[in-house]
Amino acid sequence: MDIVVLAGGLSTEREVSLSSGTMVTNALRRAGHRAVLVDSFLGLEVSGDIRDVFQAEGELHAVHVDEKAPDLEQVKAARGESGFGTIGKNVIEICRAADIVYMGLHGEDGENGRMQAFFDVLGIKYTGTGYLGSALAMHKGISKRMIEDSSLLKAAKSVVLHRGEAIDDAEAVGFPCIVKPCCGGSSIGIEKASDQDGLQRALEEAFCYEDEVMVEQFITGREFSVGILGDRALPPIEIIPRGGFYDYAHKYQAGWTEEVCPAAIDAETEKRMQEMAREACRLLKLEVYARGEFILTESGDIYFLEMNTLPGMTPTSLLPQEAAAAGISYEQLCERIIELSLK
Ligand code: DAL
Ligand code: MG
Repeated sequence: MDIVVLAGGLSTEREVSLSSGTMVTNALRRAGHRAVLVDSFLGLEVSGDIRDVFQAEGELHAVHVDEKAPDLEQVKAARGESGFGTIGKNVIEICRAADIVYMGLHGEDGENGRMQAFFDVLGIKYTGTGYLGSALAMHKGISKRMIEDSSLLKAAKSVVLHRGEAIDDAEAVGFPCIVKPCCGGSSIGIEKASDQDGLQRALEEAFCYEDEVMVEQFITGREFSVGILGDRALPPIEIIPRGGFYDYAHKYQAGWTEEVCPAAIDAETEKRMQEMAREACRLLKLEVYARGEFILTESGDIYFLEMNTLPGMTPTSLLPQEAAAAGISYEQLCERIIELSLK
């Protein structure tokens, strides 16, 4: 197949996306496809027939993800200067020439449904969840409200604050709490607060990123992630950061986090977590694949944190490790995502 792996883009997860995209492109080439990595923001120079871009061969160099996320001000400035949106030169033409676009984007327009809606209108096939599920899952506040009716899913107490609103509601969540930009990813802009001053600082930080911020009760427990691939729930993975919490650096620096897969939990807990991930996909209209995050408390309660519609595919990412534990290689995972998306 001729496949565009769309990555990069213009979000604070740009570097992570380029890492995922490079890995996916290499895997698809190894599997015999004509795959080309296209940065959705920068685009590609094309001279001659647009289909010639699929002739690109060889192993792309791995992209190193820095300890720190790309500078927010630079991302904002680039967004402001981009003139006509965030789609680079020839991107649409190249995507149109492909059999399918593999969505390797993370964050903002690549993940929030806008690109998906745009592709729907243009008749371009792409991998993963459609525009509605993408938008619902992207917004942590909305997705939490949507899962509240479910008897299967339990979520920590939380409130959403808009810029400028009084913080009384946030204080009512209690301490410690976690403050998150509503539509962020890779833990960027997330901070834990243990008191009122900490909450004020965390809110200031989160509001640098977005106009809406979620303040969530901090649940003490073990952290897990569960991948969904088609009808199948993959084995849960336990995430044990070595010092600190599972922030940007702990997510992408090799060796900073211990990932245990399959996780050391009993069969019943594993099944419950997998059912919760499946149920969250159903409620949020997620398709093809996704990855859910959960906290298991000492008393055995499982709390739903969020679903990710475009889970990372970097060397340290969780979904490929979960797939491997289920006997699915990285190449097979990418091909299965494409196969399910074309159904
Ligand atoms: N947002 C990152 C890429 C993830 O969920 O894996
Ligand atoms: Mg996330």
